[in-house]
Amino acid sequence: MSVFNRDADADVARGARAVIALPEMGGEARRDAGARLEEAAGLAEAIGVVVAEKLHFKVRQPKPATLFGSGQVEQIAAAASEAEAELIIVDSPISPIQQKNLESATKAKVIDRTGLILEIFGERAATAEGRLQVELAHLDYQAGRLVRSWTHLERQRGGFGFLGGPGETQIEADRRLIRDRMAKLRKELEQVTRTRGLHRARRQRAPWPVIALVGYTNAGKSTLFNRLTNADVMAEDLLFATLDPTMREIGMPGIEKAILSDTVGFISDLPTQLVAAFRATLEEVISADLIVHVRDISHPDSEAQRLDVEQVLEEIGARGEGGAPLIEAWNKIDALEGEEGERVRAEAARRDDVVVISALNGENVEGLLNCAAEKLRAGTRVRTVTLPAEAGEAIAWLYANGEVVEQRPDGLQTEYEVRIADADWARFCAHFGELV
Ligand code: GTP
Repeated sequence: MSVFNRDADADVARGARAVIALPEMGGEARRDAGARLEEAAGLAEAIGVVVAEKLHFKVRQPKPATLFGSGQVEQIAAAASEAEAELIIVDSPISPIQQKNLESATKAKVIDRTGLILEIFGERAATAEGRLQVELAHLDYQAGRLVRSWTHLERQRGGFGFLGGPGETQIEADRRLIRDRMAKLRKELEQVTRTRGLHRARRQRAPWPVIALVGYTNAGKSTLFNRLTNADVMAEDLLFATLDPTMREIGMPGIEKAILSDTVGFISDLPTQLVAAFRATLEEVISADLIVHVRDISHPDSEAQRLDVEQVLEEIGARGEGGAPLIEAWNKIDALEGEEGERVRAEAARRDDVVVISALNGENVEGLLNCAAEKLRAGTRVRTVTLPAEAGEAIAWLYANGEVVEQRPDGLQTEYEVRIADADWARFCAHFGELV
């Protein structure tokens, strides 16, 4: 990691005591404050921070200088001093100026939600690609902060003076360093992504469908993944236990094999820098044959979480025209008792794209597999197409996107029997319609 990653905004020590302050602003009524604080606490604990106090405040008119009102800032400062907390986590984006002012008013280090998520990603990135993406996102975040005011960097730092030309201020030198480092990282990332692309192409040629597990953080993806594959993927009550996608083969009813792909947990207000940086990770979802959306149906904000996940899926182009079919696995049904449990089960029973499960105790995981297999089989069929030898591009496309089960050469042309997803067939016809 570069020197910048461990600079100012980053670097939250494990074991640090923290106060979480949630500003409740207009337009956020769909989320329960208690649940939001719990989520923020979960995020903080994921990087080993000890949450000493959780506060929430109604903020009607966010103050440009401090976000919170002055009485609220006093309360936060008092709580931090009472709890002997050295860190304040503001569960909302804050500007560099607000951060600086809050720091001097509370005598504690202040980070915002974006900073916190970056910390977690930084700790959890397991693969080369994940690490590059996180560092890039981190630099991007810091570069944005440099532009405005980052006083400690404006100070001339001894030892680095040689980096700037005559008269160049430290902030310009830092910005240039960040820009250079980002350019280098992008090149490395391109290389890594290209290698991954090759792997993916190889896998696509294998006649196995890919199922991507997606879901809000802590929904139970890793638990389900482990249950389906008996794999030893870290499942913890820690948010973001899964950062890089993990792939395993699984047996499916009526399908020889499928590849199950576990992905990073989604989260509300995911910093834009991260959405872009993690596109490659989520590419697995774009090219999946089936998306299983794992939902914590026992969570008070389950519906809001569903909308967040759907929105990200749409943003990355995994939904809509040509997108893979999606089923929802309503997980943690064991945690819903009595009437509420009954109501949820009845609602799920009415829909053919919903399966109620408990990844924890295994309830109806079989049912989920059956439903997934049915969807995969439904969307794929064997098509016959006759192509002339010179239609090299179309032939290559069929091999890359379908499973050619038989080819019968006939003079200058060949008849192909290809097992192909309906959506891919539609794309083939759109591209090479004149040949079909
Ligand atoms: P991220 O890695 O943050 O995206 O989380 P994840 O979606 O992979 O969740 P994970 O499998 O790590 O589970 C999160 C927590 O929920 C763990 O404490 C699990 O034991 C718990 N959990 C998972 N499935 C169930 C379930 O069916 N019922 C109950 N009661 N708890 C569950």
